[in-house]
Amino acid sequence: MSASAKPRLAGRQPSLRGGVPRVTTRPRAPACGKRGGTSPRTVLEDAMSATTTLTATTSTDDATDDATVSDVAPLRPVVGGGTFVPLVDGTRVSYANLDVAASAPALQAVADRVTQVLPLYASVHRGAGYLSQVSTALYETARRTIGAFVGAREDDLTIVTRNTTDSLNLLAGCVPAQPDGEPGRVLVLDVEHHANLLPWQRGADATVLTGGSTVAETLTQIREELADAAAHRPFALLALTGASNVTGESLPVDEIVAVAHEFGARVVLDGAQLVPHRRISLQSTGVDYLAFSGHKTYAPFGAGVLVGRRDWLDAGTPYLAGGGAVRRVRVAGTDWHEGPARHEAGSPNVIGAVALAAACEELAALDAADVVAHENALRRRLVSGLEAIERVEVVRVWADAVDPVGVVTFTVAGYDPGLVAAYLSAEHGIGVRDGRFCAHPLLGRLGFDAGAVRASVGVGTAGEEVERLVAAVDSLVADGPQAGYDVVDGLWVVTDDPRPVPEGSGLAGLLATAALGFDEAFGCLPEES
Ligand SMILES: Cc1ncc(COP(=O)(O)O)c(C=O)c1O
Repeated sequence: MSASAKPRLAGRQPSLRGGVPRVTTRPRAPACGKRGGTSPRTVLEDAMSATTTLTATTSTDDATDDATVSDVAPLRPVVGGGTFVPLVDGTRVSYANLDVAASAPALQAVADRVTQVLPLYASVHRGAGYLSQVSTALYETARRTIGAFVGAREDDLTIVTRNTTDSLNLLAGCVPAQPDGEPGRVLVLDVEHHANLLPWQRGADATVLTGGSTVAETLTQIREELADAAAHRPFALLALTGASNVTGESLPVDEIVAVAHEFGARVVLDGAQLVPHRRISLQSTGVDYLAFSGHKTYAPFGAGVLVGRRDWLDAGTPYLAGGGAVRRVRVAGTDWHEGPARHEAGSPNVIGAVALAAACEELAALDAADVVAHENALRRRLVSGLEAIERVEVVRVWADAVDPVGVVTFTVAGYDPGLVAAYLSAEHGIGVRDGRFCAHPLLGRLGFDAGAVRASVGVGTAGEEVERLVAAVDSLVADGPQAGYDVVDGLWVVTDDPRPVPEGSGLAGLLATAALGFDEAFGCLPEES
């Protein structure tokens, strides 16, 4: 049944339980003890020389779908694991961050690397000073590390950007025009995040294909569209998600690349949700361009990347006009650089690049099969646990999708997604995302125009957090929320929220939320702002 057919709470709601938060204590065991556990790091070069493939479903976990995952530990420690947050009933619990698809916490190794290099930080590329030269070398080394992590070909460029959105906008300005001067044609599916849709609509000549209900049907549609166009106005580029930010599903990259290349189109992969979860190699898949974000790859320091073929990037309009991108400037005209510098005007984000490179090293040091097994176990439990609850529907794009990453979207009939998300935060200390996830066309097509709730997991997620989510949704459906909720300025909030909400807490209050032990956390937040 599609969500649009379900009864929904619309607009401002009367408080579900009489308007005053009902305080019910549901003590949950703090998760601190489950975190940690690093395994020895291997040398990056060793890890990166391993052949990578996107299609492996290498879970070694034989557990049944509904087996509990309480004992599944995070694969790597992340900064902030074990942070306590306040609940409406006056207690505090360890925060369950199930919103890593939006932004993932920094891996501890990334934070350590940033702390290590900060004393060496100085101006990049332009300074004659010793530390400027060290910083420049750090930046350029990071570029090489990131490129190597995704299997960049020898001649590929690795351009440091701000994030995936930035990278795709950059590439949109480099798609070659058609022979008659019209903008180059780009084929894109309606399943995409807006970041992989809007740049093509604005900067190129985009055709948005409505995907089918199966992978097989969608592949056929793509082939037909490319073949039809090839005779008169061929597509220059096929822009495709590496993994859906709504369902974690994907299309088989090897097949897509083969069909696109057959009809003369290049392929750009939106790797925002792929790279943090699966190894991908441009070299072995033949993907032409890959974009991804540091903040989703456990390196939230403001850098993203675009990696891919040099010719379009060297010929394209420099993405930013300014210092660093030019060889020589005269009043009459400017000579632009080629290579990464062409698109990286302004002072580079050396810390962001170093952080992202550190994340790449840390992910490369993990056995890819372990990452898949960990994530599969958590995802399977999420899906089976949620689907076992009456009135819960898990969203799917393709019935035959294989190897989805750890992103699961669902609805609870009778409850607005915003209310579900507010309830999970206020009564259980669980962070999820609600809304339409910057994928309006897809949510509309699937019948979820009113939005949905998304839970996502990564290498820093513990199974206990997933169990908490399943139990909390179960309890919502069985008993309803215990607090009262209202819609204020379009957002669901707790009526008379007793928690020291971040905005009112000031810096001291905000920082106090990072106290790692229950005893320190309890009572350290200002009760009133
Ligand atoms: C699949 C996908 N593509 C692109 C983006 C945009 O990423 P960013 O906000 O880092 O530019 C996101 C962010 O949620 C995403 O999930």
